[in-house]
Amino acid sequence: MDFVNRSNEINRIEQLRLRDESALLILYGRRRIGKTRLLQRITNANDIYFIADQSETPLQIRAFATAVSKQVPGFSRATYPDWESFFMTLSERLKKRVTLIIDEFPYLVKNSPELPSVIQKLFDNREELSFHLFLCGSSQQMMQKLVLDSAAPLYGRANETIKLMPMNVYWLKQALHCSGTEAIEEYSLWGGDSSLLGTPFSGTKPQRCCGKAYP
Ligand SMILES: Nc1ncnc2c1ncn2[C@@H]1O[C@H](COP(=O)(O)OP(=O)(O)OP(=O)(O)O)[C@@H](O)[C@H]1O
Ligand SMILES: [Mg+2]
Repeated sequence: MDFVNRSNEINRIEQLRLRDESALLILYGRRRIGKTRLLQRITNANDIYFIADQSETPLQIRAFATAVSKQVPGFSRATYPDWESFFMTLSERLKKRVTLIIDEFPYLVKNSPELPSVIQKLFDNREELSFHLFLCGSSQQMMQKLVLDSAAPLYGRANETIKLMPMNVYWLKQALHCSGTEAIEEYSLWGGDSSLLGTPFSGTKPQRCCGKAYP
């Protein structure tokens, strides 16, 4: 399915990259709303994209270091005992500012509860940092605890906080090449989530909710 919509979010994200100082972005929204697809859309060859899973911290650090090696040769040859040494070494070794993109960030925090405070410390000295950091997660509760609550470690540190919302009827009509009436019918059935089983976006070709393909 071709990428649709999200021009407003893409614009906001691209503006962040133009900043002289390191920027922190928080992207969140419910499951299957289109967060990963948006991140893939904005990721370019100079970025470092890492998708976390639920494995133990040393394994995550090693996997992240491997992703970093594509931009910083040899980075994964060293071992990093904790996240602080990982990020500090990375910041020192980067020759130009890059964007680090961490998808499923709450998984990392689950096994490393100290991580938000480490990031807080990094961004409280952001003039010394050499990367932008984009954090993405779907757990509303976790994002609330990390960023949005006034007592959260990252409260007030993010330059942009984007809550990804369902597509509206206008974009649905564009994506499905259907009439306005059909778009409203679809919207009324599945509400504009980017993908739910049996919705227009779940296959390679847009489908009606009843399963019939759109042209
Ligand atoms: N803007 C878009 N244009 C076209 N298809 C999209 C768009 N956004 C999402 N999709 C499709 O919807 C599905 C779900 O998107 P995605 O995996 O990005 O959701 P997510 O928010 O990352 O979900 P999760 O929280 O489970 O990781 C995918 O099949 C994706 O290709
Ligand atoms: Mg995702």
